[in-house]
Amino acid sequence: MNDFDFTGIAHRYERDSLVQKAAAEVLISLLEIGPREDVLDLGCGTGHLTGRIAEITSGRVTGIDPAPGMVAEARSKYGSDRIGFEISAAEDLQACDEFDCIFCNSALQWFSNPERALTACRRALRPGGRIGVQAPARHDYCPNFLKGIDAVASHPDTAATFSQFRSPWFFLKTGDAYADVFRRAGFAVPFARIEATSARYSPDQMLKVFESGAAAGYMNANCYGCSVPDGYVESFRRILADAFHAQAGADGKVDLVFHRIYLVALRSI
Ligand SMILES: C[S@@+](CC[C@H](N)C(=O)[O-])C[C@H]1O[C@@H](n2cnc3c(N)ncnc32)[C@H](O)[C@@H]1O
Repeated sequence: MNDFDFTGIAHRYERDSLVQKAAAEVLISLLEIGPREDVLDLGCGTGHLTGRIAEITSGRVTGIDPAPGMVAEARSKYGSDRIGFEISAAEDLQACDEFDCIFCNSALQWFSNPERALTACRRALRPGGRIGVQAPARHDYCPNFLKGIDAVASHPDTAATFSQFRSPWFFLKTGDAYADVFRRAGFAVPFARIEATSARYSPDQMLKVFESGAAAGYMNANCYGCSVPDGYVESFRRILADAFHAQAGADGKVDLVFHRIYLVALRSI
């Protein structure tokens, strides 16, 4: 188990991961997965995208994720002779010259050691292979969430504890900064761009989106430099829900904006 175990939300992750699914489709078209390629789905979560990739290629498709509950869910729904799942963090990937393509959607921001993970990825790819990554980017990865978090940070019920929150996420400011990390791990980087995407969601849908990702950091005692008092998480959720509702327009919806890095990197030799 790593410090940010997604096991607790595994049962509802596939249903609630609306923004991750939409971004995954962009990454799938960017990667142009071939009909017989062997593909690794890195940080596969509950495996629905691994299953989606297996519709594109007739090759071997493998998902890895460090959260045992996510992998159990993935195995039970999508495991087959051709689609395998393993419990592993990207940093511990042992594969060598095994894959034509690595697909990594909405997981890079959680890597505890991106440099080590990318070195392992390069080794796992065959020469000429490629990795495609989509992840929230920049410290203001979602301005709507940060507005809600500002309310938590200033509310008397949560301010003192929240002041001890330590961000677990790996976020960089520019496409070039992301590309440099991949170059240092031995990749060529033909494409790296941060894009702002937006879609309209109700405040309740926004909360589900929050619970499918960001909550695993904000609601995690390991991310605080103090002990988290009883009732903190409940207060956090209540203040956040009120702040999300306050963002809704006349139609009851919010323009939910995310900054996302899309990157493709090649193992040239
Ligand atoms: C927001 S979910 C994304 C799941 C799936 N890729 C998707 O797009 O729906 C983030 C996933 O990254 C996984 N993760 C966290 N740290 C990781 C690491 N070091 N290596 C690989 N995956 C990691 C989590 O367990 C979680 O399942």
